[in-house]
Parts: sequence; structure tokens; C-alpha cells
Amino acid sequence: MNLGGRTALVTGASGGLGQAIARALARRGAHVVLTARRTDVLKALAAEVSGRALACDLSDRAALGALVAQAGPVDVLVANAGIPGSGAIDSFTVEEIDRALDVNLRAPMVLARLMCEGMAQRGGGHIVFLSSLNGKAGAPGASVYGATKFGLRGFAQGLREDLRPRGVGVSTVFPGFIRDAGMFADSGAKLPSYVRTKTADDVGNAVVRAIEGDRSEVDVAPLSLRLGTAVAALAPETAARVQRRLGASELAGQFEAGQRDKR
Ligand SMILES: NC(=O)c1ccc[n+]([C@@H]2O[C@H](COP(=O)([O-])OP(=O)(O)OC[C@H]3O[C@@H](n4cnc5c(N)ncnc54)[C@H](OP(=O)(O)O)[C@@H]3O)[C@@H](O)[C@H]2O)c1
Repeated sequence: MNLGGRTALVTGASGGLGQAIARALARRGAHVVLTARRTDVLKALAAEVSGRALACDLSDRAALGALVAQAGPVDVLVANAGIPGSGAIDSFTVEEIDRALDVNLRAPMVLARLMCEGMAQRGGGHIVFLSSLNGKAGAPGASVYGATKFGLRGFAQGLREDLRPRGVGVSTVFPGFIRDAGMFADSGAKLPSYVRTKTADDVGNAVVRAIEGDRSEVDVAPLSLRLGTAVAALAPETAARVQRRLGASELAGQFEAGQRDKR
């Protein structure tokens, strides 16, 4: 798909990666519609990229239909909004589990459901889901987050085949650690020096590549992390042993402490 002149709805557009994604789409000539809860951030970005800002709480089930109606005809959906959901399961209230599922998994599924028919009727479109390398391999302290991100991958793989005959592409983007903006950077967690990272602009460019090239899955992580994740998906038991030796649970503790306010 050529993004020039297309309308793209970006969820989580007030966040670190959402802002970079919106800017990348705007640079390719797309009209961007930005949504999140923090309207002050959205309005400033909308002015910068000549876009529109729509407030929506994605954990409010009744609000999703209204968002789609307000957005109007959309050619591209980037379901990027997410909350970290890090920490041991017994540190979550049931409401916090529900919110992670609603924002990270249910809202992307419902928005895809509500938008795909219009895209097909207008001759085609594209849907991008923001998962995570945690959506391919589990990690300590990421059971709730991983459930939502694995879920997105399964949904997207099936949806891609279902929507292919109707001209609607489906892609999933899997970032690793993003150093300069977003939920990992905000957490203040310190990675071991050998773990390499990527930037928010790398994610924005990956979303553009996924749409323009109709790519099923795009990782945004250095080769070492991508290989480690591939091995972990094939041999989770071995990967868990290696993670334990490398101190993954200490890092998980840093995430839980640094991301608790985003639950
Ligand atoms: N940063 C990383 O290293 C990294 C790595 C892998 C995957 N990811 C994924 O990338 C995506 C973007 O994350 P990020 O790093 O940009 O995180 P972020 O800076 O914390 O931004 C999260 C975004 O989600 C929105 N959001 C949260 N709860 C919401 C709700 N109830 N209703 C509507 N919007 C809500 C936030 O907007 P408001 O607060 O204004 O509502 C914000 O725009 C997420 O899906 C995340 O899982 C990030």
C-alpha cells in the first residue's frame, strides 16, 4: 500500500512509540488520526503532523464504537496502545488484569472487527498490531503482558489469512527494548551492557515497512536478541534456565517497580 493520502488511525499516539509511528506515517503522506487519553499531548502532536486528535479510553468497552464513528473512513489502523502489565501475578488486582487484557488485546481485536469491513468495501486497507518480543518468548515477571502480546500474534496470523482475499493486509511488529522513548525507557530499568536496543524511530519506520511491503511480521531488535528469542520459542525450558543465570528476575523486579504506575 502507498501511504500517500491515506487515513491512518494510531492508538496510543500520546506514548513514546505512538508519537514516532504517527510522525513516520505523516512523513509518508498519510493523514493521521491520533487517539489516547491524554488530549494535551495528542493536540500538540496533531498540530505538528497536521492530524486530528480523538480522546478515547480503550479500557471502556462502550467507547470503542464511538471512536470508530468519530474517526470516519480509515485505511490503516495501527493498534499500538499498550500497558506494561509487568510483575508477578499475585501483585495484580483482578481489575488490573482485566485492564491489561482490555487495552492490549481486546481493544485491538474489536477495532479490527469494526474497521475491516469498511476497509474492504473501500478497496483495501491495512491493520498493524504492536506486539513485543515478549509475544514470541516468555520472561519472568511478564506473564500478564506476555499473555496479551502472544494473543495479538495468534489473532493477527489468523486474521491476515481471513482478510487477504478482501484486500486488507495485517502485520504484527515486535519491538525489543526501545532506549529513547516509551514504556521501557520510562521504567528506568538498567539492562546488562551486552543487551543492545533500538529507537522509537526504528519502530516508526518498521510500521511503515510493514504496511508498504505487506509484511506479516517485523521484529525491531538487534540480531542477537532476535536469535535469542527464536531459540527461546523453540526451547523455552532451556531459555528459562539461561535467563535465570543471566539475572532476568532482577531485571523483572526493576520493570515491576518502574512500570507499576502504568497499570
Ligand atoms: N517501549 C518498548 O520498549 C516496547 C517494547 C515492546 C513493545 N512495546 C509496545 O509498544 C506499544 C507502545 O508502547 P510505548 O512504549 O509507546 O508505551 P507508552 O509510552 O507507555 O505509551 C502507551 C500508550 O498507550 C496509551 N494507553 C494506555 N492505556 C490506555 C487506555 N486505557 N486507553 C487508551 N490509551 C491508552 C497511552 O496513552 P494515554 O496514557 O494518553 O491514554 C500511550 O499513548 C505498546 O503496545 C507496547 O506494549 C513497547
